[in-house]
This record gives sequence, C-alpha cells and structure tokens, in this order.
Amino acid sequence: MIELLQSSDYAVACCDGAEGMLRLPDKSIKLIYGSPPYPNAERDYGVWKSSEYIDKMTPFLNAAVLKLRDDGFIVINVKANREKSTSKASSKRSLVVEKLAILMEEEWGLSCVDIEIWVKENPVPTGLRVACQDAYEQNLWFSKSPKWTINLDAIRRPYESHSIKTYEEYEYKPRSNGLTYVRKNKRIKPHPIGALPRNVISGGVSAKIGEHQATQPIYLPDKYIKATTEEGDLVVDPWMGSGTTGYAALSLKRKFIGFDIVDSYVKTAENCFKEFIQGMVIGNEQKSSQT
Ligand SMILES: C[S@@+](CC[C@H](N)C(=O)[O-])C[C@H]1O[C@@H](n2cnc3c(N)ncnc32)[C@H](O)[C@@H]1O
Repeated sequence: MIELLQSSDYAVACCDGAEGMLRLPDKSIKLIYGSPPYPNAERDYGVWKSSEYIDKMTPFLNAAVLKLRDDGFIVINVKANREKSTSKASSKRSLVVEKLAILMEEEWGLSCVDIEIWVKENPVPTGLRVACQDAYEQNLWFSKSPKWTINLDAIRRPYESHSIKTYEEYEYKPRSNGLTYVRKNKRIKPHPIGALPRNVISGGVSAKIGEHQATQPIYLPDKYIKATTEEGDLVVDPWMGSGTTGYAALSLKRKFIGFDIVDSYVKTAENCFKEFIQGMVIGNEQKSSQT
C-alpha cells in the first residue's frame, strides 16, 4: 500500500481499519484523523455499544501507536451517547468518551493536546426533556510524543472587529512571566495573518452526501491536517466513510490512505479522489499551456 503511494497520492481498501493500519510500515503516519461509529448510534454499518466501546477502539489504538511517527498525532471525532431511560432512571449521558480520552493517555501513553468541541450550528433536534438539546461533538486530539510542535499559523482565524478595536486603543505591559500582557503602557499590533485559533469549532453539519449517513463537513479534518502535517506527509483515516478526510488531505497536497468495511463507501470515496486528482491534472495542464 505504501508502495502504491510512490505512484499515487492516495490508496484505499475495504477492510477493518485497525487491520489495514497494521499493514503499513511502523512509524509512517503523521496524522490519524477519523470518526469511528459513535457509541450506541444505530447506523446501517452496525452499532458499537457504549458497553463495548473501549474494546472496539482497542485494536485501533494499538495499531495507531505502532504506526504513528514519533512526531505524529491522532484526532478522534466522536459524540457521546445517552443511555436509555427506564421507569427508575432518566436517560443519563454516557461518559465513555471521557473514559476513552483518559485511557488514551493512561493505557496508550498518548499526550492530550486538547479535547476540542465542535459546536453544531444546525443540530438535529433531539426533543430531550431531561437535559439541554445536544449540539456538540468532541475531537480528542492527542500527540504520540509528550513534546509536540503544531503549526498554529496555518489555522489562524480572522480577528473579530472588537478585538481589532482593542488593539488600536490599548497599550499593554508584559507580565513578569513574559507570556501575557496586563498593564497598559506598550502598544502591540494584531498578528498580520490573524488571531490565534480557538479550541472550539463552530459550523453547520453536512448535508447527506450519497448514501453515507454520517458525512463530516470538510472544515473539521482540514483544521487538524493544516495544524499537524506538511505537504507530502501521510494522513490516514481508518473509518473513511464517504472520504471527507481524504478529500481534505489531497486538497492540501498530503498523501492519504483510507479504510472502511463497507465496500460501496470505499468505491464512492475512491471515485471522488480520482475525479479530484484528474481535475488537478487538467487544471495544471491548463495553467502550463497559458504560461
Ligand atoms: C462516522 S462514520 C465516518 C464518516 C466519515 N468521516 C465521512 O465523513 O464520511 C464511521 C465509518 O466507520 C466505518 N466502520 C465501521 N466499522 C469499521 C471498521 N471495523 N473498520 C473500518 N471502518 C469501519 C463505517 O462503515 C462508517 O463509514
């Protein structure tokens, strides 16, 4: 599969994602980004019960620590479930996602960069009466190494008008730790390429694409690919689905390998990548004929 990447920018296979990753050379992946089946979510690709969730994730995390480069990262997008209510108990929120995050550090030796929150601007109404409406998912972002480097400049965001105004009006003095500014006697300028990124991502959920039930918006993988990889680095999605991660990776000139157990998803994703690469080749040919 890695040999395939010498002639192509991507490779896909219909198989279990943990087994697929085990076929790759050790320490070859810069970023594993993906969204496994969510605990208890009933989808046409099956149900990963919250009671079995850690067991289901175990082979993926075992493979991940072997196959990630020492400077590699893993980001798992997941949504917590609620347990069914009974006559004696309300529908409580499961903590299996938090348990997974703790085990990623304690059992797999990964270091938590952050648990980021994806706020969904157009969440599906749940009709819940025992808690507030559900409108977020978590992105468990871990580094293989306890000391890591991320490219925050690649994911800076536009300043909001009120912070530009603050920069214009205020003068600051650095605190004794040299890191933060508190008193007002030094003018600082906004960063030329934007404000520091936040650990909250807001946006709409994707419209359903093709037959897949859980297609992600591209801005999710896009953020982590930009922050943790460079052009030519290998990105892997072990639960590829419709191929959103691959599309984001190829658009950013990274190499991509994806796995999924549903053959029709793999075919759809592969067709999408083929069309994308052909489009790029035609675009490049047109550019060179114009120069
Ligand atoms: C939440 S969806 C991923 C959606 C994807 N991020 C997208 O944008 O289309 C989870 C995917 O995991 C796949 N899957 C389930 N069990 C798997 C396994 N053991 N190995 C690989 N993929 C699996 C499902 O077929 C499904 O496509």
